[in-house]
Amino acid sequence: MGKIILTGDRPTGRLHIGHYVGSLKRRVELQNSGEYDRIFIMIADAQALTDNADNPEKVRQNIIEVALDYLACGLDPTKSTLFIQSQVSELCELTFFYMNLVTVSRLQRNPTVKSEIQMRNFESSIPVGFFTYPISQASDITAFKATTVPVGEDQEPMIEQTREIVRKFNSIYGETLVEPDILLPDNKVCLRLPGTDGKAKMSKSLGNCIYLAEEPEEIRKKVMSMYTDPDHIKVEDPGKVEGNTVFTYLDAFCRPEHFGKYLPDYQSLDELKAHYMKGGLGDVKVKKFLNAVLQEELEPIRNRRKEFQKDIPYVYQVLKQGSMEAQKAAAQTLADVKSAMKINYFDDVDLISAQSEKYR
Ligand code: TRP
Repeated sequence: MGKIILTGDRPTGRLHIGHYVGSLKRRVELQNSGEYDRIFIMIADAQALTDNADNPEKVRQNIIEVALDYLACGLDPTKSTLFIQSQVSELCELTFFYMNLVTVSRLQRNPTVKSEIQMRNFESSIPVGFFTYPISQASDITAFKATTVPVGEDQEPMIEQTREIVRKFNSIYGETLVEPDILLPDNKVCLRLPGTDGKAKMSKSLGNCIYLAEEPEEIRKKVMSMYTDPDHIKVEDPGKVEGNTVFTYLDAFCRPEHFGKYLPDYQSLDELKAHYMKGGLGDVKVKKFLNAVLQEELEPIRNRRKEFQKDIPYVYQVLKQGSMEAQKAAAQTLADVKSAMKINYFDDVDLISAQSEKYR
């Protein structure tokens, strides 16, 4: 059995630096490590429609944005299969069969579903498709016999639910599906990068994101107006680094060599933090440093994106080719599933001869 990755994103907007440190950067490293036999990266348009049923145009428009962000970050179609979820109909069939293995109360207990229901004010009018998307996500993962799912922390309940479905399926129908492992970012601050306003999560609706495709001047503006420590008023005041977004971003992005280049008065982030906490270090200086760090990280991504933007038909071609390859892999798993469930009537010579026997 090989090592196989599956992961993906909902196409509801451009990807931002939270996606980048939380998952995209890691994917590219995993892709280039050569340790994986296959890597599937999925644009989850069908899942995006579970809570955007009335806005298909938004989903449709964002497919290319997400694909461009993928390519810009360094996902390489010769190494990873990039595909669109809705183009692999086998995923729906698997979902239909897995639905029999999951209870309503188990779905209600899924913490991610719970909080999303609250966020969207669905409470008494939850679309069934939305409610069952964890089951569809189990299909996404198991269809490719994925061993490894690199995602952010918010996806943990989904992977847990997938593992339960796999165990249940295998115990009823025999060893067929692969139980996947989640792969979380190793840098703790990358689990969930806060928005530039210090709020828990970057989200388009809160307007607190820095996008991967952002222009240099926009990045600078967003960094310079970032949330810091509200009690750090005068430069001499001692400041707090916990909950201070500028330092959180430095934890996520800054490397030792950045000091020599952009802030040679300090050797390390620890030293910079110590000075800030003691007092005497102004926000502007730290923000300028963060800006330099982010500019360096995002420039090559933005430039690569612009190159791919010049050939949009190529990007769609990559997705089409990837979707065909993904379908091939999923069809194999669906055949295994049907045979395990004994619903492969026409391939089942024993069934046909036993039924013949019965009526002889
Ligand atoms: N739920 C994921 C998100 O919101 C997207 C997704 C769909 C996914 N299917 C998946 C991620 C399978 C990992 C594996 O970003």
